[in-house]
Amino acid sequence: MEYLKRTTTCGALRAADVGQTVVLNGWVHRRRDHGGITFVNLRDRYGVTQVVVDDDASDAIKAAAAELKYEYCVAVKGFVRARPASMVNPDMDTGAIEVKAESIQVLTRCEVLPFMVDETSDAKEELRLKYRYLDLRSGRMQRHIRLRHEVAFAVREHLSGQGFYEIETPTFIRSTPEGARDYLVPSRLYPGKFYALPQSPQLYKQLLMVSGMDKYFQLARCYRDEDARGDRQPEFTQIDIEMSFVKRDDVLELVEGMMGHVFRKTLGHELPARFTRLAFDESIELYGTDKPDLRFDMRMKDFGAVASKSGFQAFKDALADGEARRAAAAAKGITQEGGAVKALVVPGKADYSRKQIEELEAAAKVYRAKGMAWMKVSAEGHLEGGASKFFVDIEKETLDFLGAKQGDLVLMVADAKKRVACQSLGAVRSKLGKDLGLCDPAKFEFAWIVDFPMFEYNEDESKWDTAHHMFTMPQERYHPTLESDPGAVKGDLYDLVMNGFEIASGSIRIHDPELQKRIFKIVGFSEEEGQRKFGFLTEAFKYGPPPHGGIAPGLDRLVMLMAGETSIKEVIAFPKNSFAVSPMDESPNEVDAKQLEELSISIVEAPDGSKKVEIKR
Ligand code: AMO
Repeated sequence: MEYLKRTTTCGALRAADVGQTVVLNGWVHRRRDHGGITFVNLRDRYGVTQVVVDDDASDAIKAAAAELKYEYCVAVKGFVRARPASMVNPDMDTGAIEVKAESIQVLTRCEVLPFMVDETSDAKEELRLKYRYLDLRSGRMQRHIRLRHEVAFAVREHLSGQGFYEIETPTFIRSTPEGARDYLVPSRLYPGKFYALPQSPQLYKQLLMVSGMDKYFQLARCYRDEDARGDRQPEFTQIDIEMSFVKRDDVLELVEGMMGHVFRKTLGHELPARFTRLAFDESIELYGTDKPDLRFDMRMKDFGAVASKSGFQAFKDALADGEARRAAAAAKGITQEGGAVKALVVPGKADYSRKQIEELEAAAKVYRAKGMAWMKVSAEGHLEGGASKFFVDIEKETLDFLGAKQGDLVLMVADAKKRVACQSLGAVRSKLGKDLGLCDPAKFEFAWIVDFPMFEYNEDESKWDTAHHMFTMPQERYHPTLESDPGAVKGDLYDLVMNGFEIASGSIRIHDPELQKRIFKIVGFSEEEGQRKFGFLTEAFKYGPPPHGGIAPGLDRLVMLMAGETSIKEVIAFPKNSFAVSPMDESPNEVDAKQLEELSISIVEAPDGSKKVEIKR
């Protein structure tokens, strides 16, 4: 029998439609029997409509209604009528009407469900991922997927309007060193050779600038073999952007305009025209991280100068050890930070229990703090408890410096490495933000982090590494001193952070081959190595490359935060689980022997049961 094709959707009917005969197609969301009357909520992407089988309906319709179970896919032909006033549901878009069924056709049946398709389903993530197609039927996931589409559309709309071309770059590329491990694809035609899946289109977008494309963007799939986290997936999407003849602020302003457009179009939310700009050093000093959550204030103070006058030996030792480290490095011509005592005042939390303070200390220790000291300000305005005895003599100076008031809790971390003190107390600040409910998911606080260090000293290998990628331009004023004082060099690098997440990263690139050679040399990359790994880029740069720069916001992270979620899996249609596995199609999986044969690959099982791949050349 031919199926009854819909004449409207389950989200469309309003009071004005009363009197019409319509056909709806959708899924059985709920079924309720009230005496002789059956109510069926029919759902599709557009909404839910209440279908009614009245007491006086024909036996055939009653029998059809009785057969309906959750998630049956059905067609209903019926008459739109107004709901009785007492039954109007203001929470439903279609709440003013109902459809009196005149005929019900089961299109397909549904087996017993692994979980209910529901807003409030508490199904385990693994099960949701195994039956992702069912999970995606839920209102929540449908909203997320719609938001993602709308964000992507608004991005394209804005960038096209600004004169950008969307250009696809290959996903089978040459393996080039970036931050993470590559996913490799064996070549059948060239046994022993591999393509890599791009970690990002970085080199290609720079080549497009050499090609004179001027303004490029791409919603680009990126692949990174790294450990999964809430905000990381092995494959994800970047809003990849590159521009020619620009300076840093041109890129920042473009992204501010784009985010403004995206938030206005999709959430109806007005963002400030300009985002706060914070230097990396300042961000670490105040928030202990380069991705601060600025939805709440609570800034850390550099307490060293006051703490050194206290009687607290552990603090004094940390400062002295730090100073010795700094001086020793300086003697070798290396700029390095000394130690620090960082303090955080938690307003009104003097009533925190010892256990609560210990939980905060545990957060600090994750970032290698040796411990966390604390004291409280009593109702009389005196320091008490914890480390307060060491501050008796300088109580007033301490309270004034910290701005601590009656009822406040003071937390302190000292370390011979300033970065450790900052990061560990910063982790405590982040935990407090969550514990105290200061992270309102409806608030969006953006900030640019700028002036990143260009190099990081690798103490294990006693050498300098680039802090980001090797194509980043060192800020011009440091060009004369790159080799003599790499630790002081700031890069023309910027990150965009929102609500405690890094959502974009970019830089102005080096376009001068000589400068590029100097950077390779500082990080101990020989000219031959540079030539072998990035030869095609250096070659291209011989032919008049323009000054250029760019950025790549992560689409998944952006949509996750806009949706008020904390895992990017919630905004990806078919994500991998935390073990890089898809429970639905069970990839990665074994392949046929014939496929391996064609790729000249064999899998060898060792006596201990472990497996190794061998390539026949
Ligand atoms: P970067 O590696 O910082 O820069 O990545 C840019 C942005 O991509 C997102 N992102 C991820 N999202 C989900 N899962 C992941 N595993 C993941 N890794 C990164 C983040 C991040 O801010 N080529 C440079 C950009 C440039 O310089 O133009 C790059 O890829 O939101």
